[in-house]
Amino acid sequence: MNILITGGAGFIGGNFVHYMVNKYPDYVIVVLDKLTYAGNLETLKPVMDRISFEKADIADRAAVYKIFEKHKPDIVVNFAAESHVDRSIENPEIFLQTNILGTQVLMDACRKYEIKRYHQVSTDEVYGDLPLDRPDMFFTEETPIHTSSPYSASKAAADLLVQAYHRTYGLPVTISRCSNNYGPYHFPEKLIPLMIANALADKPLPVYGEGLNVRDWLYVEDHCSAIDLIIHNGTVGEVYNIGGHNEKTNIYIVKKILELLGKPESLITYVTDRKGHDLRYAIDPTKIHNELGWLPQTKFDDGIVKTVRWYLDNKPWWEKIISGEYQDYYEKMYGNR
Ligand code: NAD
Ligand code: TYD
Repeated sequence: MNILITGGAGFIGGNFVHYMVNKYPDYVIVVLDKLTYAGNLETLKPVMDRISFEKADIADRAAVYKIFEKHKPDIVVNFAAESHVDRSIENPEIFLQTNILGTQVLMDACRKYEIKRYHQVSTDEVYGDLPLDRPDMFFTEETPIHTSSPYSASKAAADLLVQAYHRTYGLPVTISRCSNNYGPYHFPEKLIPLMIANALADKPLPVYGEGLNVRDWLYVEDHCSAIDLIIHNGTVGEVYNIGGHNEKTNIYIVKKILELLGKPESLITYVTDRKGHDLRYAIDPTKIHNELGWLPQTKFDDGIVKTVRWYLDNKPWWEKIISGEYQDYYEKMYGNR
């Protein structure tokens, strides 16, 4: 089997490359990544001699076709995206370019080279949010698309396009919509790694609003195992929600990180809320459980301990990131907030 993994130098894509290389030593794995600010070849260093790497933009048709011609993949798994809600609020355009038009180019290549499966890695954010006072409500695959941010709107547009390519051209597609991931190699502008890095540096921990927004956290390896099942056993044309019933408020997570690092809660700083901030995400994973037998293995209280440990053990990976271009972003976002 020959698998092309786009966005494989990012957080989840990188973890998926590690997962697949270890689980399927016979597979040929090709990573295509533009290496934006969020892509990092250091993440792939431990497996670099077992994969091929192609630096390219998924929206660059000529480059993408050339890579398909050269590697002739059987399966394409698309993680490549602009992924940060806060950045999409500042500047939506690149989100539309990469997340929508890039997806289109990839699917055109899949048609041209007659691949066996195109898998789109999507997000639960396409469903919008749920109220905080209705813990009985969850996102199912039937929940209407109802987006809040330019990021989620671009992901939803891509999902609709993927379904249109299936219906119109018969492209063999699957889509997965996952809740918030956490774990190793998470870029330090997202909640959990940002709080770990700031706490270690005794810097303020910027909590948006009152910190009461709820996310459904999934350990990244559990996301990888779900995608593995979908690309091998999932039904073509179907959407699968992925989540593990690990709902936590942001403030719970921030306090947990401080506790694990032995740092004082006085570091918590409440800052201006995010525009259009989604209140609660919560996935109903019944379909993937019933159809494919998927179950997450890691509970949040264990996963967060492993994650904090990883950041303590791998300081060079993230210290290099936050010492560079990221500092400008940080100043812009939090300087006067
Ligand atoms: P990330 O930002 O860490 O990584 C994205 C990767 O894509 C980077 O390596 C980047 O260089 C690459 N990339 C960006 N634009 C590209 C382009 N035009 N061409 C080629 N490569 C490009 O993101 P992530 O958190 O790993 O998310 C991966 C996917 O999973 C995304 O599609 C995202 O929408 C989805 N997702 C993420 C989460 C989460 O919690 N992080 C949850 C659900 C779904
Ligand atoms: P984030 O990691 O950006 O993921 P998403 O917006 O895709 O859910 O944010 C997770 C939650 O944490 C979200 O409710 C926003 C909040 N948050 C903060 O309170 N402070 C921060 O500095 C960041 C980055 C996020």
